[in-house]
This record gives sequence, C-alpha cells and structure tokens, in this order.
Amino acid sequence: MLKIRIEKTTRPKDLPKADDPLKFGTIFTDHMFLMNYEEGEGWHDPRIVPYQPICLEPSAMVFHYGQEMFEGLKAYKAVDGRTLLFRPNKNIERANRSNKRLCIPEIPEEVFLEALKTLVKIDEQWIPEKEGTSLYIRPFVIATDPFLGVRPANSYLFIIILSPVGAYYPEGLNPVKIWVEDEYVRAVKGGIGEAKTGGNYVASLKSQVKAHDEGYSQVLWLDGVHRKYIEEVGAMNIFFKIDGTILTPELNGSILPGVTRASVIELCKEWGLPVKESRISIDEIYEAHKNGTLEEVFGTGTAAVISPVGQLRWEDHIMKVQDGGIGQLSQKLYDTLTGIQLGKIEDKHNWTVEV
Ligand code: COI
Repeated sequence: MLKIRIEKTTRPKDLPKADDPLKFGTIFTDHMFLMNYEEGEGWHDPRIVPYQPICLEPSAMVFHYGQEMFEGLKAYKAVDGRTLLFRPNKNIERANRSNKRLCIPEIPEEVFLEALKTLVKIDEQWIPEKEGTSLYIRPFVIATDPFLGVRPANSYLFIIILSPVGAYYPEGLNPVKIWVEDEYVRAVKGGIGEAKTGGNYVASLKSQVKAHDEGYSQVLWLDGVHRKYIEEVGAMNIFFKIDGTILTPELNGSILPGVTRASVIELCKEWGLPVKESRISIDEIYEAHKNGTLEEVFGTGTAAVISPVGQLRWEDHIMKVQDGGIGQLSQKLYDTLTGIQLGKIEDKHNWTVEV
C-alpha cells in the first residue's frame, strides 16, 4: 500500500474553547491530507501537511465544468476516550460510486481508510466533546487539468479536511420547517442526483434562498418528471411515520443513498417497526396529515444526524407535525445513533471503527 508522508505543522492553531458553539463548517484543524492522480501514474504521493491554501491554475477543469466529488463523515471522542469513525467504509464505497458516475478515477479503498484514520489521529485533540458536537470530515476530489475543453480530466487532487462542528441547523434537535419545492427540481433519473457532487447542491440554492426568505430552513424536493413524488431534502434524506409505518423514498437513481438513512432503516427494522422504501407522493402526505395519521417527519444525514420536521409547507397548505415538537421515534433514533457513535451504547452492528 502507498505510504503516507507526514509533515506536521510547526505553528499549531488555538483550539476552539470548550463553550464555542462551533457553527457548522467554519473552523478547520491543523492538518489536511492530499493525494494526486495523473493519467498513466495513478494515485500517488499521499501526504498529510499543515492545513493551507492550495494553488491551482485558473484554467483547472473543476472551476469550469464542476468535475468533483465530495463526502461527509464524522469522528467522535467516545466516553472511554477512544476516537471512533462511524461506518467509514460506507462513505468510501459511496465515494467510489460517485467517482464512477463522474468519470473520476476510483480511490484505492485501503488508502482512503488509512488516510482518514491517520489524519484524524494527528488532529485528534480537535475533536470537540460537548454534547451534540463532533469532528466533521470532508474528503473531496477535484479535476485539476489546465484545460477548457469538455472531457474527463487526466489529473486530480484528493483532499481531506477536518472541521470541529456543532449542530448543522441552528435549531439543533428542535424541529425545522421545510418548504416543499414545486417550481425547481434537483435531479432526474439518469442525471447525477445519486452522486455526491457539488452540482446537486448548486442546483438547490435558488429554492433554498426562496425558502429561507419565507422562514423555512430547507426545501423538500419532488421528482423532476411528475413533480409529485418525494425525493430528499437539501442536506438530508427524509422519513415519515404514518399510522405506525416508517416510510422513506426508495433509492430510484436520483436520490442520495445516505449512510444515516441506511442505519435508520436497519434500526427501525430491528425495533420491529414496519419500514417501507417506496414511491411516496406529496398528496399521500397531505392526506395523512388531513386524516391525522401523519405521526412524525424527520430528516437523516451525517451533518444533520436526525432532524425532526415540525412543519411542511406545500403550495398553500401548512402541515404541522407533532404540534411542532420532537417525535418519540426521532428522539429515540437520535439517542441511539449518537449513543453508538459516542460508545455509550453497545455497537452490535460493528458500525464504529477505532482510529
Ligand atoms: C453531510 O450530511 O455530510 C452532507 O454532506 C450534507 C452537506 C450538504 C452538509
């Protein structure tokens, strides 16, 4: 396996204070991981260096045609002092699925995992320990060829950066308000919706701004063809509890296959709850709300963990859920997932990986 070269910083930064609210994605640790790819040479020169700006030509292809992949996972300081990653292999697999779709060369899995573990170990003291915090890990690949023609690049840079974070939404675990988007669409089948890439997120900005202006945190996307079937929220997958059944949109090719989504499905099944991954129309949700069977709505994601939804707005309909409060299942899922991540609950599934 490729050996990671390590150059430690001689000027470590001040760590955030224990009571810093750690606004999501604003502070970065002392080190970062880099690895280059060149056609004919493959991935090479894996290294950990002090966190610093990177130098790219203005003609680098990523700036023009957006050939890039990114991932998100977290490291936690467990109650017994171990440093744990949550299901890193799932992120590595997904990264390479995204890479394939985006014509980016796959990253050797063992190098990827070793890079995550080594970097997190080096910056371990940056893992915050306050309730609701963690060290967010952002791996990404960019196309670096200086070239303005449209084709897959011949050279890439793989980077991993780390950021101590608190809750993704300012609301924390308090329910968020979600706007059901019926004008713009995020993705269609055959497009890049199931890949984790910047293009899907830039496609969401226009509606996110509109939703924010109306006092909503994020948008819930409907499918791009019928404008009827539920897909996902800006930074999360979505779940509904209707009359005791847990429903989530099936992975249909335009939805991100979330790691938290998969974990929630497994937990709910183990708890004996009926789970259905299917095509769900917004009319069904509206009907369930009208007849009083819409018990809970929540989003799932690495950054968001479990985010209860207290209100959905679709056209002129305002659907309040759980009276705007946190549902029992949302709370149980949050407690269980964070309990496993922090080593407070036995990890029966072997989801955590020690660094
Ligand atoms: C994550 O949950 O890790 C994500 O990548 C969502 C991101 C838009 C913050």
